[in-house]
Amino acid sequence: MAYKHKVRKPLIAGNWKMNDLKGDARSLAKSIALETKKIDLNCEVLICPPFTVLSGVKNALWGSNVKLGAQDCSWAENGAHTGDISPVMLKEVGCEYVILGHSERRTDHKETSSMVRSKAKAAHKAGLRTIICIGETLAEREAGLAKEVCEKQIMTSVPKESNGGNTVIAYEPVWAIGTGKTPTPDEVEDMHAFIRSVLVKKLGAMPAVRMRILYGGSMKPSNAEQLLSLKDVDGGLIGGASLKVEDFMSIIKKVK
Ligand code: 13P
Repeated sequence: MAYKHKVRKPLIAGNWKMNDLKGDARSLAKSIALETKKIDLNCEVLICPPFTVLSGVKNALWGSNVKLGAQDCSWAENGAHTGDISPVMLKEVGCEYVILGHSERRTDHKETSSMVRSKAKAAHKAGLRTIICIGETLAEREAGLAKEVCEKQIMTSVPKESNGGNTVIAYEPVWAIGTGKTPTPDEVEDMHAFIRSVLVKKLGAMPAVRMRILYGGSMKPSNAEQLLSLKDVDGGLIGGASLKVEDFMSIIKKVK
């Protein structure tokens, strides 16, 4: 067992995004539940389907070790917030995690880092673990600003009470999401080490050392083994490949 795994249990999380109606979602979840029971898991496994199928997927996962998460939540507990879903509601339906600040939400819904921080605080209060996403655009990377952008996102998106128990960071370079492109292993390793150093600065050594940092962006069976073996890469946040049982299982099995 690698040193990092003694301190931080790897997490393989599937972000289903806006995909799958009830029938497909249930059968995908059932297959993942079944397949994960056949192997010795070296990691925590999580799936994050759309809100509308959370309840059905929860039932499909019954009796398995696969955990349930959502893709966003409100910063409010309840009240006049048309169209929003509160962290308490997610908890009630069986979620343990919620993804926050995904670049698609930052772009489509103009979510700012301070909004992400408010949502994370509310989620923690409700007893949910948060997966807080950060990452630079291609223009930012090409301008040499990748680290500066990620540092700023961490400093403003992550609440100060965050720790390894309630928070996971997902580094997702925007230009790698859904494109088939990934940074080189050296670039990923360098960025993850940098992210950990920023977390040390923000939260102190102990919470930072215990906090998992996932890589996300075109992770697939063919590159997962290399990415997951890198120092400070504590798992993956997987989009497209999490919608196919064989691909998702293949990535899960690459955690050594
Ligand atoms: P892809 O794996 O499809 O690139 O998506 C990554 C992602 O955005 C996960 O949150």
